[in-house]
Amino acid sequence: MSASQPLRVRAGRSGDVEDLLALEANFPGDRMSRRSLRHLLSAPTARVWVIAQQRQVVAAAIVLLRRGSYYGRIYSVVVAPQCRGRGLARQLLRYAERDARSLKLRGLSLEVRVDNTAARTLYRDLGYVETQVLEHYYEDGCDGVRLRREFATD
Ligand SMILES: CC(C)(COP(=O)(O)OP(=O)(O)OC[C@H]1O[C@@H](n2cnc3c(N)ncnc32)[C@H](O)[C@@H]1OP(=O)(O)O)[C@@H](O)C(=O)NCCC(=O)NCCS
Repeated sequence: MSASQPLRVRAGRSGDVEDLLALEANFPGDRMSRRSLRHLLSAPTARVWVIAQQRQVVAAAIVLLRRGSYYGRIYSVVVAPQCRGRGLARQLLRYAERDARSLKLRGLSLEVRVDNTAARTLYRDLGYVETQVLEHYYEDGCDGVRLRREFATD
């Protein structure tokens, strides 16, 4: 990836399914199926944001909207291994937050594995606060931690 070439965030579309599946293969633990991804890409209750490089999706974030809730749930954030450490996750999350604010949400929440140091550091860096430990939350018995970011009211 060229450092001089800024990559932009766009909404995910149906043609991104295969790229998204390939990205998901890098995800530690539970993964999404092709069917779930197809559904999410067209569901009014999901916001899928991607960053593509030369037409290939290299980073993605999925936020779920819950009926009757003022908080969106970050369902997935993943960056291709060769593109990590370049601020793409930060860029996606900031974009997703702006979108959530535009929908009048009060904040975002998510769960992450306790052993996912990169993700926990990323979210802490972005102002997310760990609110709860979720014992044996993942399929392999790993604990999870719930995080939340409240948007500032201004
Ligand atoms: C976690 C993940 C999304 C980070 O993506 P990324 O694009 O490399 O992250 P960024 O470059 O935007 O990093 C932003 C901040 O996150 C933190 N961070 C990112 N990777 C880190 C690592 N390996 N170790 C420690 N902190 C890390 C840092 O605070 C970093 O800020 P800095 O660059 O100023 O130090 C990526 O490693 C990934 O796809 N992992 C596999 C999937 C996953 O675990 N998703 C999260 C679960 S919800």
